Amino acid sequence: MPPIDQKASNTPNTGAGPHLLSQQSRQATSSAIRDLLVHARRPGVISLAGGLPSTELFPTTSLVAAASTILSQPQNLQYGLTEGEMRLREIVADIHTTDDQLPITPDDVQIVSGSQQALDLIARVTLDPGDEVVVGDSEYLGAIGAFRGAGGRLVPIPIDSHGLDVDTLAGQLRRGLRPKLCYLIPEFHNPTGESITAERLSRLAILSDRYAFLIVEDNPYGALRFDGEPVRTMASMTDNVVRCRTISKTIAPGLRVAWMIGPGWLLDAVRVAKQSVDLHTPTVTQHLAATLLGNTDAHQSHMSRLASHYMDRRDSLMGALRDHMPEGRFASPAGGMFLWLSLPESVDTNRLLPLALDRGVAFVPGSAFAVSGTARHSMRLSYSTATPSELREAVERLAAALTDWADGPGVSSPP
Ligand SMILES: Cc1ncc(COP(=O)(O)O)c(C=O)c1O
Repeated sequence: MPPIDQKASNTPNTGAGPHLLSQQSRQATSSAIRDLLVHARRPGVISLAGGLPSTELFPTTSLVAAASTILSQPQNLQYGLTEGEMRLREIVADIHTTDDQLPITPDDVQIVSGSQQALDLIARVTLDPGDEVVVGDSEYLGAIGAFRGAGGRLVPIPIDSHGLDVDTLAGQLRRGLRPKLCYLIPEFHNPTGESITAERLSRLAILSDRYAFLIVEDNPYGALRFDGEPVRTMASMTDNVVRCRTISKTIAPGLRVAWMIGPGWLLDAVRVAKQSVDLHTPTVTQHLAATLLGNTDAHQSHMSRLASHYMDRRDSLMGALRDHMPEGRFASPAGGMFLWLSLPESVDTNRLLPLALDRGVAFVPGSAFAVSGTARHSMRLSYSTATPSELREAVERLAAALTDWADGPGVSSPP
């Protein structure tokens, strides 16, 4: 060990450590889902906890073929533009112009490294500490983390079977609430599986005009619809909207390709912020995304395959719940990957979880997503990765865990 000289011995020698972390980092807690997934990966556990797309549905053959062409052209390995590769932005602009019947140009599109990055960048460039952000109660944990990380103060609004409760929001706005952002997952919400009605959307658009807030329309699951009609984008009703879309649930999340479409003032600020985050989204995966999305016929048949696969899974899960858990209440999700199961109020799903893990099944307790409420008797079940027979087995195990609960903590739990 080197001798300690006089000067050094006057310096507090605590060493580099967590005291160097910013206040914001020290306050940030790790995601409950991530902590829980450690147990969900135990051998023999059927996990309905993760929000992952099914690996077996990744279009690997098309990706391998595209990769060999893309990687053989060295310019595809060069630094790229912060706004994203022109080829991908053109394809995205065409897709939205056709699907949403709203003309979009490549300049309106900003490519990002996952829609999680879109949420983070939007939060960074709009929020000052204490600024209010409307979110659902319960809500996607990644959005909660991004808004809180930028100092936002979350204002939770209930979600019911018609989506975000716009009446409650209107009441709060009348009483003086002045949010900068309103976060909205319009279709197949994570975690509740609910979609918002057209009537609520148009009222939300009117509110955003009257009270001058920006709607963050994050719709990663809308493309995975198996029943009913798509929900129209709020961009057809107001200019106060930034759309976030991703290929994570439809092609593969490991590519980290997503995009934002929004007002110029926002995208300009996002581009400056993104330069200091990652300069640009990886060029190679942008070209992969462009090749797959640009091959319209193949992409459409891939999407039909996804929808029928996830619909089978949803039906298996719902059938098993009806057979084995008559005490559970749930709506039928018309798409996406999640089903929100509510049990009798006497059941605490936080305390049910260890019993369920012992029985070999994992879920996410509702409280993990709660902003102000507790959602204690609810849980999120994902049907995306388990097979139909695993889903049935998982529900039988869950029903057995509920029996354990009734025989144990359920009986002695306080009212
Ligand atoms: C509602 C919602 N938004 C955003 C994301 C993040 O998606 P991405 O992989 O594009 O970052 C997820 C991922 O689960 C999500 O559920």
